[in-house]
Amino acid sequence: MSNPESPSPTSPTAQGLHPLALAYSASLHWDRRLYRYDIACSIAHARMLARQGIIAPEEAQKLAQALEEIREEIEAGAFPFRQELEDIHMNIEARLFEKVGEVAGKLHTARSRNDLIATDLRLFVMDACQEAIRALRELQRAILDKAEAHLGVVMPGYTHLQGAQPLLLSHHLMAYFWMLERDRERLEGCRVRADELPLGAGALAGVPYPIDRQFLAQQLGFSRLSPNSVDAVSSRDFAVEFVAAAAICLTHLSRLAEEVVLWASPPFAFLELPQEFATGSSIMPQKRNPDLAELARAKAARVAGHLVALLGIIKGLPLAYNRDLQEDKVPLFESADALISTLRLFAAMLSRLQFRIDVLEKAAQDPALLATDLADRLVKRGMPFRQAHQAVKELFSYLREAGKDLSHLTLDEMRRFCPFFKEEDLALDPWTAVKDRDHPGGTSPQRVREQIALARHLLKEGP
Ligand code: ARG
Repeated sequence: MSNPESPSPTSPTAQGLHPLALAYSASLHWDRRLYRYDIACSIAHARMLARQGIIAPEEAQKLAQALEEIREEIEAGAFPFRQELEDIHMNIEARLFEKVGEVAGKLHTARSRNDLIATDLRLFVMDACQEAIRALRELQRAILDKAEAHLGVVMPGYTHLQGAQPLLLSHHLMAYFWMLERDRERLEGCRVRADELPLGAGALAGVPYPIDRQFLAQQLGFSRLSPNSVDAVSSRDFAVEFVAAAAICLTHLSRLAEEVVLWASPPFAFLELPQEFATGSSIMPQKRNPDLAELARAKAARVAGHLVALLGIIKGLPLAYNRDLQEDKVPLFESADALISTLRLFAAMLSRLQFRIDVLEKAAQDPALLATDLADRLVKRGMPFRQAHQAVKELFSYLREAGKDLSHLTLDEMRRFCPFFKEEDLALDPWTAVKDRDHPGGTSPQRVREQIALARHLLKEGP
């Protein structure tokens, strides 16, 4: 901007660039979504400059008013975005020149795009954390409601996807509640660490003006100032943390998605997909496909990739700012979008899911699920666990070969495998197995009720 009298038609950095270079380096199509934060930063900055006597109060007033107008234009879809201006910062500044003339050139006093973009991004991450936490809470509520409504339902619990031991359906569902609770804590921690104002760092070394960073922080809602200007413009670990938290949370949601897919499939038939969340096939009329859960599994993979991308972008950069950092936007934005939309989708889908209680309970009747409990009974009668395990293992091999199940067995047949078996062992059922696991964290109805009460308490107390 050699001539301060004339409006700035192009970015000072982009001037004279080959069209291919210009297109390659432009970030407008991604970073335009930061406009609200960028404008908020500029308004706070203009006010601060005036308070500190660096520009005149009328100039700040003019700038702030024009910036508000620009925000309205963007929101109304009336803003003339220009790709050749590289990024959102230069687009807003150029429009400012069109609106207020040469005074626009004063806005960039005592700041740089380096501290500006770092501030915009921190504001974005703080908001994204809050939005994700709100959506996550909704999903936790949906899980809790389902768990509470199904306290009386037993199902087979699995390891290796082989029937293992009976569980309460509520207990299985609550496992997801606790995963999400840790995800919420991670997002909360990320928000706290993002909450630090970079503005004032300038390009990297600070600025030679009597600025008031505390005022900027208070205007923009930050609770701390970054203590080092080089760190302020170089660091993106708050973004990495967000994407990591998103990747972990989506990994949890992907496991839930996998169970929805599995449980909705006819061989399991543990649940009925709600009509509005099941898709048809263009060729097979009978289909009710779990496409949404499948998409969630894939989004989890994409976000895991974004985490690797972001770490890779940062790991080799010398201090301070490097243009590589511009490429942090796509991984960050796409991760936020995938996380928030998946949480919202799952909250809605889960609250409408119907469990097939008859099918779950019938599957829980599989006597093989009681093998561990039979061995435990022998142990309680004095047998070492390894011996009891062997005896029950032989009993079940016999049943498998004879094509029988436990309910067809006589006590005499059972005693061939161990003399400690008793008549009452023939009557063992999944409910007894569930009730016997009566310690904190166990699947007995009383313990699951306690777990649900604790979870309700956390939802009431927490953010
Ligand atoms: N678009 C840039 C980014 O996202 C803004 C900062 C540009 N700074 C610079 N020195 N070229 O990182």
